[in-house]
Amino acid sequence: MKRWRNAWRFLPLLSVIALTLTGCGNEQLTTLLPKGEGSEMQFNLMMLSLYIMIGVFVVVALIYTIVLVRFRRRGESDNEIPEQTEGNVVLEILWTVVPIILLLILAVPTVMATFALDEGTEKVPEGATVVKVTAHQYWWEFEYPDLGVKTAQDLYIPSGERVYFELASKDVLHSFWVPTLGGKMDTNTATVNKMWLNAQEPGTYYGKCAELCGPAHALMDFKVIAQEKEDFEAWAESMKEASSQASTDQAAQGEEIFANSCIGCHAVGADGGNTGPNLTNFGDREKVAGILDHTDENIKAWIAKPSEFKPGNNMPAFEDQLNDEELNALVAYLNGLKVEE
Ligand code: CUA
Repeated sequence: MKRWRNAWRFLPLLSVIALTLTGCGNEQLTTLLPKGEGSEMQFNLMMLSLYIMIGVFVVVALIYTIVLVRFRRRGESDNEIPEQTEGNVVLEILWTVVPIILLLILAVPTVMATFALDEGTEKVPEGATVVKVTAHQYWWEFEYPDLGVKTAQDLYIPSGERVYFELASKDVLHSFWVPTLGGKMDTNTATVNKMWLNAQEPGTYYGKCAELCGPAHALMDFKVIAQEKEDFEAWAESMKEASSQASTDQAAQGEEIFANSCIGCHAVGADGGNTGPNLTNFGDREKVAGILDHTDENIKAWIAKPSEFKPGNNMPAFEDQLNDEELNALVAYLNGLKVEE
């Protein structure tokens, strides 16, 4: 008895933990507050199955309670055995037919949604935006073949319409997931998977890699920036015209370092390699490497020792190659790479 009384003392602690955990959700990264056409369909399916489950639970719990109360032993002298029944045709039909009906109620909308979520991916409607997504350990490449724009980490899309994705991977299996908008879909090396997303309102949504792909899998984040159509078009235009020219002396020094040390892997505009993220609009990005706050200190720390932040990533450490002054210059140059006001 004493032991149980002590256990109650943990109740306040549990309440605090529960309250704290309710704050762990993130509006930009949740399936429970859908902001996309696809995620809404998925959410409705989830709620449908939840309601059915609640219904089944209530009925079963009710019968269980009734049986417990009605057929309980009433005191020491109660030795009466209730009537024993074996086999009941009505009951057996009932508990066979009811689950079949429940399964049908679940299956029909699920199959319909599965096909609806795939609609148009084989033959993309005229005028729709197409994005080729390539997953890398541990970053995301986004290419707009019709617009002639390439970027990474921040995925810009027009809101209020379906945007079609062609998903592939450069190295291992990853999975492209934007919980608030819809998804997810694996990225493979040998085949191209297709899906669409439709952000119903402009906003920034968080994306994640949803397939264990190496030590930095959990850090393989990206962002979806959904904009009104005209803003998106303006963004695409400015990406095409983006300047890779430095505007200050310090940035010019950085540009030179960039041309010597970085451009083999990182492109700015059309120039540069493709083994690392494209940096055309690096200065606009809210995060460094998808995970760190965009501060000068973080950019320097990242360049100096990337594996400290994303274990197993392919970027070499520059802590021995570049001194503090050179790092500062590089940061000045990178932060000047902007296409948005
Ligand atoms: Cu890429 Cu997990």
